[in-house]
Amino acid sequence: MKLKIAILAGDGIGPEIMEQGKAVLEAVASKFGHELTCQEALCGAHAIDVTGNPFPEETFRICESSDAVLFASVGDPRFDNDPTAKVRPEQGLLAMRKKLGLFANIRPVTTFDCLVHKSPLKDELVKGADFICIRELTGGMYFGEKKEGTDEAYDTNAYSRPEVERILKVAYEYARRRRKHLTVVDKANVLASSRLWRHVAQEMMGDYPDVTTDFMYVDNAAMRMIQEPRFFDVMVTENTFGDILTDEGSCITGSMGLLPSASTGTSTPVFEPIHGSWPQGKGLDIANPLAQILSVAMLYEYFDLNAEGALIREAVQASLDANVRTPEIQIAGGKHYGTRAVGQWIVDYIHQHV
Ligand code: IPM
Ligand code: MG
Repeated sequence: MKLKIAILAGDGIGPEIMEQGKAVLEAVASKFGHELTCQEALCGAHAIDVTGNPFPEETFRICESSDAVLFASVGDPRFDNDPTAKVRPEQGLLAMRKKLGLFANIRPVTTFDCLVHKSPLKDELVKGADFICIRELTGGMYFGEKKEGTDEAYDTNAYSRPEVERILKVAYEYARRRRKHLTVVDKANVLASSRLWRHVAQEMMGDYPDVTTDFMYVDNAAMRMIQEPRFFDVMVTENTFGDILTDEGSCITGSMGLLPSASTGTSTPVFEPIHGSWPQGKGLDIANPLAQILSVAMLYEYFDLNAEGALIREAVQASLDANVRTPEIQIAGGKHYGTRAVGQWIVDYIHQHV
């Protein structure tokens, strides 16, 4: 297959983990005979420094004309403590989501048996937890009407029926392919927007009789996720709730550096780790590249290249089993492996196995 991939490394640890993600992307392509064309493009704080825009027009054009985007992370402490900054790196990520119509963000929360002890939760609660959060990504408070004054400010949590229908459809399709259990997470006891979600979901559930649909308030879902993470199979929720719940989800697995995601919609899909740019880890060769590498697996799987995805997952599992791990998940007394060493080990594994 011919694949044109836009590479957006961004800020902080982004370029370091991207180097490994790209190496894995290329190793798999050469192994399976795919013809890759990678094109790098600017985004985030780096793009602000160079062009003044966190998602320059040129980057948009490259993304739009690619088959997929591999994205790392954006963010920079220079902007974090300055509420008056006119332009922020995160706006680049939001612009990309909006301009590429990426309304469905698929965030799998999968645990690795050998890492359950890294979770702050008890091993027996975490073991076997495996669910997907489907986060709506182009609506809600992130994009609704805003006012930002010094005496008054608001963000509007607006959703329309078609926006809710299309994301629920994605969620039902995932549930159908998995354990056939969909949890719709909302705050329908308080929010009008949530009542629309619930109304639409109740109408649609009849079309998916093979899937069990349940409804849960977001506060309760946050609790249930740590009390009984195995309860969930597929959960679907609005933009803001999904943002919050998926960070919570990453704790279940033991490290933020393990969770990949896919964002799909009306144009080019984007594959990215769910974690941020971790400026404190920048340049230290300690960031975990696995979330980026697993995002590459999701990229191949999106194109139905399932053997390619499976080989990456196998290589990641093998690296963990061999204790070739970055410091935050390394076993006590285990050898030190940096970002590059872990990535290189996985690349070598891919070259040696089918
Ligand atoms: C995420 C991030 C982003 C979000 C930030 C960086 C704008 O937290 O992808 O979860 O809030 O969506
Ligand atoms: Mg987030």
